[in-house]
Amino acid sequence: MIEVCGLDKAFGDTAALADVTASFPPATVTGLLGLNGAGKTTLLRLIAGLEKPDRGTVAVWGKAIGDHAEPMRVLGVHFDQSAMDPRHSALRHLSWLAALGDIAPRCIDEVLGRVGLAEHRGRRIAHLSTGARQRLAIASALLAEPRVLIFDEPVNGLDVPGIVWLRELLRQLASEGCTVVVASHLLGEVALTADRLLVLERGRVAAEGNLDEIVPPGADPRRYLETLLLGMVRT
Ligand SMILES: Nc1ncnc2c1ncn2[C@@H]1O[C@H](COP(=O)(O)OP(=O)(O)O)[C@@H](O)[C@H]1O
Ligand SMILES: [Mg+2]
Repeated sequence: MIEVCGLDKAFGDTAALADVTASFPPATVTGLLGLNGAGKTTLLRLIAGLEKPDRGTVAVWGKAIGDHAEPMRVLGVHFDQSAMDPRHSALRHLSWLAALGDIAPRCIDEVLGRVGLAEHRGRRIAHLSTGARQRLAIASALLAEPRVLIFDEPVNGLDVPGIVWLRELLRQLASEGCTVVVASHLLGEVALTADRLLVLERGRVAAEGNLDEIVPPGADPRRYLETLLLGMVRT
């Protein structure tokens, strides 16, 4: 469960988020949608405690992520440009994270298998394909088996089987009871696997709710959302 209330965040003159109130329930995949610059990454960074809001509150299972005794076990984070040393192998990268979070080494092999990188575990990150690097960034988020997961543009770099795999992974995590948030500027592949949507428009909440609450009866969800986002370009 994630609850954000009255969030404002500005960078200089740019209001990245303005009065954002939303909740992300457990056992659910929430798609965070919006055009580039809508504020998706900023919202996820505030949830992860990587930035402080100018106003408002963020609670992950009742408190700020930094106030949890073992934050890595509560919240798994994936960001578009996740920090990885290209000289390290996938195994070394995950081992380093495991040491940081006091996570059992068995979790490393499990997560490498889960993301389909077991065969590439010894390969340098610099020599991995973009898709494999994306899988490794996803593995980093899953490593500590957290109950809440946020993914920022996880589709980037994945091929079609990778996208299908990601979709199933997100559904599986929700069925295990996890709170899953996935931000994307692309509609089809991930947003439509979500149970719920939060649509941001220039830092404000444009729509929030279950897919069937946002999309009118009879409308094609993908086309409806495309039209909604296209309308934001014109205004
Ligand atoms: N560190 C930063 N410094 C200055 N402006 C920023 C910074 N981070 C985000 N912004 C601005 O805030 C707005 C929202 O950005 P972002 O949250 O990255 O949007 P999204 O992830 O939806 O593309 C954009 O106008 C962006 O340029
Ligand atoms: Mg972003």
